[in-house]
Amino acid sequence: MTRPDKSARPDKANPETLGFATQAIHVGNPVGEESGVIQTPIFMGNSYALPYDPLVIDWSGADTPVYTRYSSANQVALQQRIAVLEGGDDAVVLASGVAALHGLFFSTLKTGDHAVISDTTYGAVWRIFAELFPAKYGIDGTFVDTSDPDAVRAALRSNTKLIFTETIANPTTRVADVQSLADIAHEHGALLCVDSTFTPPPLYRPLDDGADCVVQSLTKYINGHGDAMGGAVIGRSDLIREIKTDAMIEVGGTISPFNAWLIQRGSVTLPLRLARHQENAQQIAAFLDSHPKVAYVYYPGLPSHPGHELAKRQFQGRGYGGMLAFAVNGDPDTQN
Ligand SMILES: Cc1ncc(COP(=O)(O)O)c(C=O)c1O
Repeated sequence: MTRPDKSARPDKANPETLGFATQAIHVGNPVGEESGVIQTPIFMGNSYALPYDPLVIDWSGADTPVYTRYSSANQVALQQRIAVLEGGDDAVVLASGVAALHGLFFSTLKTGDHAVISDTTYGAVWRIFAELFPAKYGIDGTFVDTSDPDAVRAALRSNTKLIFTETIANPTTRVADVQSLADIAHEHGALLCVDSTFTPPPLYRPLDDGADCVVQSLTKYINGHGDAMGGAVIGRSDLIREIKTDAMIEVGGTISPFNAWLIQRGSVTLPLRLARHQENAQQIAAFLDSHPKVAYVYYPGLPSHPGHELAKRQFQGRGYGGMLAFAVNGDPDTQN
């Protein structure tokens, strides 16, 4: 895992010597060997020159650019940046957050396996485990409150291979204790994977607390400009390699070079945007919380939120994200 080494002289070629905001600018942007250009350009090709001896090509691997579904210059540049920002060994980037979620489940589970899934989760994950994977592949999922370690332990089966949760859940903002869930998963020989879309770095890096891999919908905070979709899974090299070979090369879902470039450009301002989002969310939550027409506000930054103390400890004072949920008082039929 890449960790900043604050004692070393900053060197663009060694990401661990850079602070987070500088990593967000420079990682994945080597100086072009021939052009001298300092930003990775958009390479809109779908095929790359093959070596003279094609026998040297590893057709099952994703690290040699031969064809854009295997690897592309912009995909690799974005993967390098996202891996460093999340503190992972490697990353795979795909066409959307849902493609990343599917790639993770498709690669880590097989027929007869079982997964424990947060009962408050993005809709696609719900449908994958409530309908699609059980019917199509014979892979079962049990939905539980992943903020309750006892409920998670009770849901484990001998064939449980994966525990999956969101750090702050969409849409209720329930907070999961990643370190406890990682301990439960590892005691059982299972993986803990975490959708951290609501808590992008530098707010939180679940790998530091023992998660085996992290999913990001790059479409959201990391791109930040509403102009491209993408998704990533970040973690140990062996896990990421399987997703690249099984889910990316064989199932497709490749990110386009242009979208990878847009997301890489958007990610430069991630630390600045996230700080402002969090400031705004805290103020809006406080305003709504004191408003007579508001029935409730769920924002982990409010002391009244059931996950506030956990979020304060887990995110170490770096904030509580930019998402909140609230409801207005009154009759749902006459209010919009
Ligand atoms: C928490 C979370 N995970 C995953 C996704 C899916 O990402 P995408 O829309 O990029 O496929 C979303 C989308 O809203 C989300 O909110």
